[in-house]
Amino acid sequence: MTTKLLFVCLGNICRSPAAEGVFLHLIEQRKLTDQFLVDSAGTGGWHVGNPADRRMQAAAKRRGIDLPSRARQLERSDLESFDHILTMDQDNLRNVSSMAKEFGPRSTANIRLMLSHARRADTLEVPDPYYGGEQGFEHVLDLLEDACEGLLDDLLAPPPQR
Ligand code: 4NP
Repeated sequence: MTTKLLFVCLGNICRSPAAEGVFLHLIEQRKLTDQFLVDSAGTGGWHVGNPADRRMQAAAKRRGIDLPSRARQLERSDLESFDHILTMDQDNLRNVSSMAKEFGPRSTANIRLMLSHARRADTLEVPDPYYGGEQGFEHVLDLLEDACEGLLDDLLAPPPQR
């Protein structure tokens, strides 16, 4: 069975394409690619059709990670076609949750903060690096590598014994 994951941020050109690329890289390393379908989207539509931000791509490339995605805007249908929606910050979480509320019972995705799966991070939000310097992009990748490992472990963990 395939587990369908959607990573969501505001613009879908920095944080969520990075999360998508980091997760894809991880499941390739672990030979688990067949078990997952992975995508990303933005709550905003300003960058639709664009590749990931050049600075984000360069930072990922330095770690051997490709960011293949093109920006798209989150759609209601995502809320029924994905199993898990992982948001980068609380604003994204509020926006996705209110879309889910409007959609009603057809919204079946499990919606949560990406960093709720992190093991080392001491924050629950991935900060938006768009208006900052290079260090911000490295920090985003540090947080996402931590959270992607935790997310994969959580998804693969056997259900608790009863
Ligand atoms: P992202 O970063 O949400 O991580 O993709 C942003 C990129 C662009 C904008 C905002 C956030 N923008 O307003 O154009």
